[in-house]
Amino acid sequence: MSGTGAPDLTVVGGAGHVGVPLVLAFARAGLRVNINDLNRCALDELAAGRLAFLEQDAEPLLAAALKDKRLAFSTSPAEITAGAPVIVTIGTPVDEFLNPVRKVVQACIDDLLPWLSEGQLLILRSTLYPGTTDWIAGYLERQGKRLKVAFCPERVVQGQGIRELGQMPQIVSGVSPEAEEEAARLFGLIAPEIVRVKPAEAELAKLFNNAYRYIEFATTNQFYLIAKSGGLDYGAIHGAMRHHYPRAKGIPSAGLAAGPCLFKDTMQLAAFAQNQFTLGQAAMLINEGIVLRIIDDLRARFDLAPLTVGLLGMDFKADIDDTRASLSYKFKNMLSGLAGKVLTTDPFVRTDPDLTPLEDVVERSDLLILCTPHSAYRGVDLKGKPVVDIWRFLDGANRLP
Ligand SMILES: NC(=O)c1ccc[n+]([C@@H]2O[C@H](COP(=O)([O-])OP(=O)(O)OC[C@H]3O[C@@H](n4cnc5c(N)ncnc54)[C@H](O)[C@@H]3O)[C@@H](O)[C@H]2O)c1
Repeated sequence: MSGTGAPDLTVVGGAGHVGVPLVLAFARAGLRVNINDLNRCALDELAAGRLAFLEQDAEPLLAAALKDKRLAFSTSPAEITAGAPVIVTIGTPVDEFLNPVRKVVQACIDDLLPWLSEGQLLILRSTLYPGTTDWIAGYLERQGKRLKVAFCPERVVQGQGIRELGQMPQIVSGVSPEAEEEAARLFGLIAPEIVRVKPAEAELAKLFNNAYRYIEFATTNQFYLIAKSGGLDYGAIHGAMRHHYPRAKGIPSAGLAAGPCLFKDTMQLAAFAQNQFTLGQAAMLINEGIVLRIIDDLRARFDLAPLTVGLLGMDFKADIDDTRASLSYKFKNMLSGLAGKVLTTDPFVRTDPDLTPLEDVVERSDLLILCTPHSAYRGVDLKGKPVVDIWRFLDGANRLP
């Protein structure tokens, strides 16, 4: 491990999207943090003061943390800080059949096991299949390790974690009163308010938060599709519904709802509910299906075969540089079998060699689809090309009805 002095805590997976804002929030609070991550390149980037992805307000905090020597970097489980709290950001993924893969978290705990000591605080941070926290505490005990196991879920918006960590209540749960108390004390250093519940309740609170959001997006997307099939403008209806009407204020605009969390967490909840989560499963059909509905609509209007279609924005949401589970790639995949050519562009993505500069895409495309409403696209001259803009983001564009 690099750096001097014993860190106050270790964040496992600390170089990832969940880890980095958390590490920086603790460093800002004056703690010394051991960033433990298998990805050596990501650690080297952080050690050099560079962020591998967009995270608002992170750069100056990283610079300050490095200057004050508050960060240590380690790649091996053997290098977690002895006796100090360990926060694990690794969560339960779902597989291609939408079943939770429990062994991912277990494998991470197995790796840490030899280096964890009696009474150490182990905080699980990422989304977990319900029951995992209690199961891990029991599993550790069966291996002869009695740890203080807590679950304190991450709930920040990606890219704005630093701001939100300092503003949002932190849900804290522990398998024992001591675990809960120590976790509450630690998170009390960075969160304005602590909400205490049992581990199983915290696990469901996290999943319900994300599934609810996913259902909200599906609701507005279904309204959009209903309005569209009736030949009506959902943007105008959405505006009228919300105008000075407080109960409709929170209805989001129609758009592509994707990313690494909402879909996965909704499916995780469906698995927990023995596939009886009808609202969540319907939300998945709508949010994932909207791409196919838009393409069907385009096929009804145009002969796509000779046309070049340009996709604007490849990230899963606006103004971030994260393409994980982005529906833009579903568009690309489906359209590449139908259109003459598909061009893609994005102002943030650095990892996709197929991207083309925006001006070229606009110039060469017969038809455009706004996949991600990045701020950079506001006011861009689309040269009168017809554009699918389900977000109703592009003022003055030749928007297809
Ligand atoms: N991104 C979000 O906004 C968000 C929010 C809440 C929950 N989650 C969940 O949190 C988890 C992590 O998400 P993320 O977005 O941070 O992913 P990420 O891929 O950005 O980061 C994960 C990091 O963990 C590292 N890692 C993986 N296994 C490791 C191990 N055994 N030991 C040490 N390091 C390890 C990886 O190298 C990577 O740097 C996922 O389960 C995700 O669904 C993400």
